[in-house]
Amino acid sequence: MVEIAVMGYGTVGSGVVEVLTTHNSSITKRTNEQIHIKYILDLREFPDSPLAERFTKSFEDIIQDPEIKIVVEVMGGLHPAYDYVKRCLEDGKSVVTSNKELVAAKGAELLRIAQENNVNFLFEASVGGGIPIIRPMSQCLAANDVIEVAGILNGTTNFILTKMIREGMSFEDALALAQKLGYAERNPAADIEGHDSCRKICILASIAYGKHVYPEQVHTEGITRITLADVEYAESWGGVIKLIGQVSRQEDGRLQILVCPMFIPRDSQLANVDDVFNGIMVRGDATGDVVFYGKGAGKLPTASAVVADVIDCAKHLNARKYLYWEEGGKEYVADYLDRETAMYVRLKGEQPEALFKQAEELFGQVSRLLRKGAEEGELAFVTPVQPERQIIERLGLLEKQGAQLLNTVRISDF
Ligand code: HSE
Repeated sequence: MVEIAVMGYGTVGSGVVEVLTTHNSSITKRTNEQIHIKYILDLREFPDSPLAERFTKSFEDIIQDPEIKIVVEVMGGLHPAYDYVKRCLEDGKSVVTSNKELVAAKGAELLRIAQENNVNFLFEASVGGGIPIIRPMSQCLAANDVIEVAGILNGTTNFILTKMIREGMSFEDALALAQKLGYAERNPAADIEGHDSCRKICILASIAYGKHVYPEQVHTEGITRITLADVEYAESWGGVIKLIGQVSRQEDGRLQILVCPMFIPRDSQLANVDDVFNGIMVRGDATGDVVFYGKGAGKLPTASAVVADVIDCAKHLNARKYLYWEEGGKEYVADYLDRETAMYVRLKGEQPEALFKQAEELFGQVSRLLRKGAEEGELAFVTPVQPERQIIERLGLLEKQGAQLLNTVRISDF
């Protein structure tokens, strides 16, 4: 029998307990031992739960119990999760977590502590919910040099954008629905402002390139400025808008990494990743493009990934799974303004035709976009590929000529 503790009984925690309970016999067959939940840590009372007597409000019950070999951390947030996880690893207990904030901020340190104590620190559920991505990237694709990773990493924003694109639903109504369905973070600002996607691309970048990338190093934009007008212009361009996390390595070894909405051409594999689904494209030098697709949020998909890690820990109680990256550094991430991109631009002016001519003079050949019901004075176009810094400077010149800049969205290059 392997004794475990579950810290946090929210959406994911209750899903983990449910999967471990309902799939008990098949899990026992896979691990050759029964996995028994001895404690569930939560500050709330659950008197009606069949496991009511296993609830505790004290972390000390878990850390002081030598029988506990695996601890599942599904509380979310950095504190107290970081202190609890660190203490568990230092005490020789393996830890499984779905907490992307924790892994993105402290992954290198916690992996080192796990290594020093000969235990495992696994976090398959931290990226892509139920989609296997951490293990495939760190093991199955390990022979490749990763050229690029690009993905739709947040179910909530993908759900919102899909509702806007397909049903013309307002941003607010779609967000409320995503919250009701249990996809959104406790504070949905983390979803819509791109921080959740940022944490996830940091984790994938750290695995792909072997060094920690910290969230504060990543230029991050969310979807709050995207309007139905932008969605319509994307359609007339021949694609859709998706919130993308993207990382690649430059020739000098530094990373280009960013999170932002992008125009994706309709024939891209990521263009058809809709609703709460996530899609992650990993471009390897040997494999070419490999795409991972599945439900990126929700109780049971996420719980499925957590429980798979618990099974892996139970089967490797006295051995380490190889998962490791080094601490990162300040110079490791390149300035996103040096990245070359084509840009969709929507602006407004009293003389849009004159503005269009000026745009052509400034940018070179620009492609004009049209939509039905455009407001008077509205102008939309796509610039040629050039360094982002140059695009910003040139847009500044257009503003000096009387243009009111309404929005810009990068055009994807995959
Ligand atoms: N809020 C997250 C999402 C949950 O919508 O993708 C899964 O990480």
